[in-house]
Amino acid sequence: MMKKTFIFLYSCVVLFISVSLAVEQKKSQDFNLRIFDQHPKYNNNFEPENGVLTLNLVKSILNETSGVPELNTMSNLTTVNKNGRIYSPELFKYFFAPNTDAPDKNNSGLNYPLDITLTMNLDDKSNYFYDNQEFFPIDYKGFDENPDFRNFHDDESNSFPKPYHNYHFCAKITNSRFTYKGFETFRFIGDDDVWVFIDRKLVVDLGGLHTAQEKAVDLTKLGLVINKLYVIDFFYCERHTSRSTIRIETTIELQCPWYDYCGVCQGNGLSCCNPAKDCDDSNPCTNDYCPEPTAVFNIKNLADNCRHIDRLPTDWTIDDKCNTGKCNVTTGKFEPNITKCIAPNSCKAADHCDSGLGCIFKNLCSDVCSTGACIEGKCETKNSKICIDELDKGVEDKCYQYSCDPTVGCKKTPKCQQKSDSYNPCLVVSCDAPTGQCKNTTIPPNECNCTCNSLTKCQVRSCNSDGSCKPLPLPEIEDNNPCTIDSCDDATGTITHTPTNKCTGCSICNGVTGNCDPIDKKCDDGNRCSTDICIINKSSNFGNCSSKPTTECDKGDTCMVYSCDTEKGCLATPRVCPSKGKCQVGKCVPGKGCQYEPRVCKADAFCLIAECDETVGCIQFEKKCAPDNGRCQAGICKNATDTEEGQCDSVDFDPKPFICKTAAVVSTAVVAGVVVAGAVALGAAIFAGKKGYDAWKASQGVTMATSNANPLYESNPSGGENPIYTSPN
Ligand SMILES: *[C@@H]1O[C@H](CO)[C@@H](O)[C@H](O)[C@H]1NC(C)=O
Ligand SMILES: *[C@@H]1O[C@H](CO)[C@@H](O)[C@H](O)[C@H]1NC(C)=O
Ligand SMILES: *[C@@H]1O[C@H](CO)[C@@H](O)[C@H](O)[C@H]1NC(C)=O
Ligand SMILES: *[C@@H]1O[C@H](CO)[C@@H](O)[C@H](O)[C@H]1NC(C)=O
Ligand SMILES: *[C@@H]1O[C@H](CO)[C@@H](O)[C@H](O)[C@H]1NC(C)=O
Ligand SMILES: *[C@@H]1O[C@H](CO)[C@@H](O)[C@H](O)[C@H]1NC(C)=O
Ligand SMILES: *[C@@H]1O[C@H](CO)[C@@H](O)[C@H](O)[C@H]1NC(C)=O
Ligand SMILES: *[C@@H]1O[C@H](CO)[C@@H](O)[C@H](O)[C@H]1NC(C)=O
Ligand SMILES: *[C@@H]1O[C@H](CO)[C@@H](O)[C@H](O)[C@H]1NC(C)=O
Ligand SMILES: *[C@@H]1O[C@H](CO)[C@@H](O)[C@H](O)[C@H]1NC(C)=O
Repeated sequence: MMKKTFIFLYSCVVLFISVSLAVEQKKSQDFNLRIFDQHPKYNNNFEPENGVLTLNLVKSILNETSGVPELNTMSNLTTVNKNGRIYSPELFKYFFAPNTDAPDKNNSGLNYPLDITLTMNLDDKSNYFYDNQEFFPIDYKGFDENPDFRNFHDDESNSFPKPYHNYHFCAKITNSRFTYKGFETFRFIGDDDVWVFIDRKLVVDLGGLHTAQEKAVDLTKLGLVINKLYVIDFFYCERHTSRSTIRIETTIELQCPWYDYCGVCQGNGLSCCNPAKDCDDSNPCTNDYCPEPTAVFNIKNLADNCRHIDRLPTDWTIDDKCNTGKCNVTTGKFEPNITKCIAPNSCKAADHCDSGLGCIFKNLCSDVCSTGACIEGKCETKNSKICIDELDKGVEDKCYQYSCDPTVGCKKTPKCQQKSDSYNPCLVVSCDAPTGQCKNTTIPPNECNCTCNSLTKCQVRSCNSDGSCKPLPLPEIEDNNPCTIDSCDDATGTITHTPTNKCTGCSICNGVTGNCDPIDKKCDDGNRCSTDICIINKSSNFGNCSSKPTTECDKGDTCMVYSCDTEKGCLATPRVCPSKGKCQVGKCVPGKGCQYEPRVCKADAFCLIAECDETVGCIQFEKKCAPDNGRCQAGICKNATDTEEGQCDSVDFDPKPFICKTAAVVSTAVVAGVVVAGAVALGAAIFAGKKGYDAWKASQGVTMATSNANPLYESNPSGGENPIYTSPN
């Protein structure tokens, strides 16, 4: 009776003072749930013995990475898990997370995810509520698409047969963000397990198999900050026949950060896209995927937005330098294409292919008079200059001639020496070292004109000072080369210089010192990515080629990637640090290498919030402004303009929720320029009579003195609400 009167009077006042802005309170909001259909066959935590309400089954802080609750204990022998009917604790992680690839085996944890939306309606106390005393949202769905899985329709006694339902499932909310406005409540009544986390902290703990239980949360007691975005994580399980009830009441206004193209809050698109059917490009060389969940397109063009990613060969790696085979688009089979190593010039011959390095060649420039280098396709031969380097470390002795002998290699022969066939015993030829000039000194005839009777073919005539014969070996016999053994046939006078051949492999004999020197160039395998050196075994004088991957490409900068191309040699490219997941950005820090930092997402406008989501990366969604009085007003966000900064405003709901009526009168009175105190008094008197007016007046305190566009809404103990309305809480 009272209520009717108020409404009548109220409408008079409204007529009298007109309201400038009309914002209607949302009559309903969606509650998006991802359901995980479970089956007792695959998870024996479902349909166990009847149980009781069990507190502390789960940890009081939500795991931020996995985003799902975790059990406090992981043994099925602890009292809490026994009471909570967690028979297989290791399967708890599949209550709220997909496990669709699990094998079709008892207790494998196999589940079946489905997305549903519940609509919550506004009641007359400004609560959104969802009430369903027969909560069976997935009958005939999930596992139960298969009739063989539709068991458990009766209660245990079987004496009261009940209709079929799909009982076993868990659910979690997906539109889980909200802007805290400073007054919200959340209340749940139902069975079985319910856990609610706000800001990752457990605030509703109704674990276990139980009959309907109730728990209310007053968000003002949680130390939340007004206008800040929070996450509410709601977890619910129906684990046992034969009842399923749920009632949720809340003033929280839920937000979904993004919808996939199927319209599912935070969905992955799979509810309207089957990759095998909708994305098949009939190319057996690609794997086909549905579009990214955040892709924006007309659903009619679904196929055009599918993703096709090349399959990788299974028998060889994608970077195998010896096999560049590809997938045959006709057959879908990988056909090898073995690299043929063709020598780039006649100095090289193909040796083998290395899967990492590519072709390796053998150096054909390996005879004693080759330097090992190849110039314009030909082996470089040792000229006098190279022999000077080799024999005398680059310091030429002008009294010698340097050359390379194909049998022994570099040698030097004296410049000023008489030839045996024109040998004149009365002449001494000497060499002037600095200039290399030959000088003849003639010996007096009595000292050189002697008679030699029995010279062999390997001797030349020479005399002692007394005129007797002193036979000398032919000058060409001695070649001054320690790498040869010199000999002369006395009968024929044939001179031979036989190489000692003591230096083998890549070692060669030094024509001056007679030592075995290593020649690295002889080990060159034609691959610029290997360092080839010659190592001599001092006891055997064998020069053994050793080939090691080159290290000279690495210049030590951690932010460069050094690589080597067998033909081009060293390459350096800046290091790319790929991002980890969607929200950790990789960056190369000199001296440290790849480092990761959270991706910063920037909002495009004042009225957008940007966040990073692991599934899709940066997302932007509508910013909700907390109004001064959340029960009676809407927060209105205004983007920045050229002249004004972005801002949040509060606007009264119209029509006003019942609990707000007095306040609304006052507020509009302010707008209309009516004396505030008078209007308030009038409003309070009209609505509540003397008692109400007194109560209201007593509650005002000093706040009336504050000058503010909405004086009643600011730090008012009764929240500016109808003073005679008392909340049921
Ligand atoms: C699998 O579980 C079902 C009940 O869920 C049971 O009837 C069946 O015997 C089990 N099979 C095996 C191999 O344990
Ligand atoms: C959170 O979950 C992740 C992945 O499931 C796990 O690796 C990590 O150890 C968990 N963190 C804590 C604090 O339990
Ligand atoms: C507890 O776990 C053990 C090993 O996983 C299993 O053998 C046993 O049956 C379980 N107990 C209950 C009550 O389920
Ligand atoms: C792919 O395989 C088919 C059938 O074996 C063959 O005719 C065709 O030449 C192959 N295509 C290529 C590019 O190798
Ligand atoms: C095999 O690889 C070579 C060089 O990588 C390429 O030129 C040739 O076209 C390839 N052959 C086939 C059949 O793909
Ligand atoms: C030294 O004697 C040889 C042989 O008789 C002759 O060919 C040469 O020209 C002479 N050299 C000088 C510098 O006189
Ligand atoms: C050397 O001796 C021979 C005979 O004994 C003589 O014929 C010749 O003229 C002499 N030569 C010189 C340069 O004296
Ligand atoms: C060097 O050669 C000797 C003789 O052939 C052999 O016994 C020894 O093992 C070799 N040393 C090395 C390091 O190869
Ligand atoms: C040459 O060196 C390799 C290792 O670098 C070794 O395995 C091989 O036995 C050596 N050959 C000789 C003859 O010393
Ligand atoms: C603010 O601007 C963004 C970007 O232009 C737009 O998407 C959004 O809807 C605007 N919001 C309001 C409340 O005007």
